[in-house]
Amino acid sequence: DHGYGPDIDHVLLSARQIEEKIEELAATIAEDYAGREVLLVGVLKGAVMFMSDFARALRLPTQMEFMAVSSYGSSTSSSGVVRILKDLDRDISDRHVLVLEDIIDSGLTLSWLLKNLGGRRPASLEVCTLLRKPDAVQVDVPVKYIGFDIPNEFVVGYGLDYAERYRDLPYIGTLKPEVYST
Ligand code: PRP
Ligand code: MN
Ligand code: MG
Repeated sequence: DHGYGPDIDHVLLSARQIEEKIEELAATIAEDYAGREVLLVGVLKGAVMFMSDFARALRLPTQMEFMAVSSYGSSTSSSGVVRILKDLDRDISDRHVLVLEDIIDSGLTLSWLLKNLGGRRPASLEVCTLLRKPDAVQVDVPVKYIGFDIPNEFVVGYGLDYAERYRDLPYIGTLKPEVYST
């Protein structure tokens, strides 16, 4: 586990559980999008692992775009004030856009992103998130595809970071409290 073992409190989702869920999501989405060309929009950096595994599991021709946004706030929560660090390279008008996120926590990042992307007149716009936390339910963001509903704990791994670390962990887990206090 890349030497991160001592920092991890417990494993929430194993690499195997993540892989199985992605296969399941991909099967559903492949059916829903049959005959359409999908444009995957990955939200950097958290969604990179999910994007790369999902794109290969989805046995449909897809194209990939990435957007990087940053919410002002502490490293463990977001504020809803979002700024674009990297915009899409191409026009998405008349495209079938599927936004891929690693996690929806407060829902503020996604809520902002959907308004922004929706204004670019895509043919369709849906969201697939690997993880969703309980608070996200309070914000009115339409999320069609959800991998796992998880408890309100701070999680890392499989793209998710704490202060830019742990993204390379192959599983998703929680950190020991002392990791935050140093
Ligand atoms: C994290 C995560 C989501 C967002 C969810 O990204 O990857 O994109 O926060 O939080 P919210 O629902 O409360 O808005 P972050 O801003 O940490 O950037 P990163 O993906 O580069 O880690
Ligand atoms: Mn993110
Ligand atoms: Mg982050």
